[in-house]
Amino acid sequence: MTPNHIKRIAICTGGGDAPGLNAVIRSVAIAAANRGWECYGIRDGFNGILFPERYSEDGVFRLTRKHVRNIGHLGGTMLGSTNKGNPLHFPIRMPDGSTREIDRSDEILEYFGKKEIDALVSVGGDGSLTIAHALHKKGLRVVGVPKTIDNDLDKTMTTFGFDTAVAFATECLDRLHSTAESHQRVMVVEVMGRYAGWIALHSGIAGNAHAILMPEIPFDLDKVVDCIRARDAEGRMHSVVLVAEGAVPMDGHHELLAPAEIGHAERLGGVGDRIAKVLEERTGKDTRVVVLGHLLRGGSPTAFDRLAAMRFGAAAVRALDEGLSGIMVALAFPNVDYIALEEVAGRMKGVPLDSDTVQTARDLGICLGD
Ligand code: F6P
Repeated sequence: MTPNHIKRIAICTGGGDAPGLNAVIRSVAIAAANRGWECYGIRDGFNGILFPERYSEDGVFRLTRKHVRNIGHLGGTMLGSTNKGNPLHFPIRMPDGSTREIDRSDEILEYFGKKEIDALVSVGGDGSLTIAHALHKKGLRVVGVPKTIDNDLDKTMTTFGFDTAVAFATECLDRLHSTAESHQRVMVVEVMGRYAGWIALHSGIAGNAHAILMPEIPFDLDKVVDCIRARDAEGRMHSVVLVAEGAVPMDGHHELLAPAEIGHAERLGGVGDRIAKVLEERTGKDTRVVVLGHLLRGGSPTAFDRLAAMRFGAAAVRALDEGLSGIMVALAFPNVDYIALEEVAGRMKGVPLDSDTVQTARDLGICLGD
């Protein structure tokens, strides 16, 4: 028995998937097995506990070395995930047809008690880390692992999934330049990222976008029109405009695919289409829109993301072994650090406007819409 008397731990993955989740699962399962602990996987966030009847096999199952063999390079999550059904705000249908939220988090604590599972590794974005924080406050031993392609979590240099998303978006921009140039078109490319412009800014610079619009800098389309016209005047007849899904015009609002509802956040999207129409009208140039969307979340993690994910997984197990709880593992180059969950739960990290990356874009003459 270890000094902290851990015999069993469980792991779950919640929120939107991100490349590197399987690498974390593998790392946690092996680091636990090497300490003589049993590791259990919870399916689909906490649904494996909250809805055992939905599963033909167990909603919570033993993760042995065999289960996690050869999965580190695969996209997605072998445990499944969900961004619906937050146990703290669980939507239920009332007899009158309305929906209201209840707190089902006690059921999770009861399950851990009944099955004698000593601790939880919760892998997710701000939603999952907020749930982890609440469970910790109720007495569960919890360590959080930061995940999201959006890179919008505070107190960690980066989250795994981000590098893969940026690499893919950059490759797409490379491809779009040649077709835009052949047809002398404007190509508007919309990327995910929620209310942060990390993916847009990083891939936009790496992929030579001529304009980058992101939530941190409300945009004026006149500036983008000027940029396209100035390029035309120099004989550069094509332009690539990269827009983050959360970008907002100076005098407007976010574009939504669906509003928030009980149990689900609002779905951003559509800004690419909206600005493409205006740019086409104003410049007279043939304009096309490409929405990269969920393509950014799929595929194999880059080596950077795999390594980050494996370091996070191993560090989470080490933290539990050291008796820690209520913390998130975080990248603080060159090491992995432990940060109190209360310092990260519910906090978003946007691109700092005084960062050298923003300055780099300006120095390179990229239009940022302001
Ligand atoms: O947080 C990851 C993310 O891909 C965001 O960039 C995007 O806004 C959201 O999830 C999309 O969620 P869904 O998969 O529910 O459409």
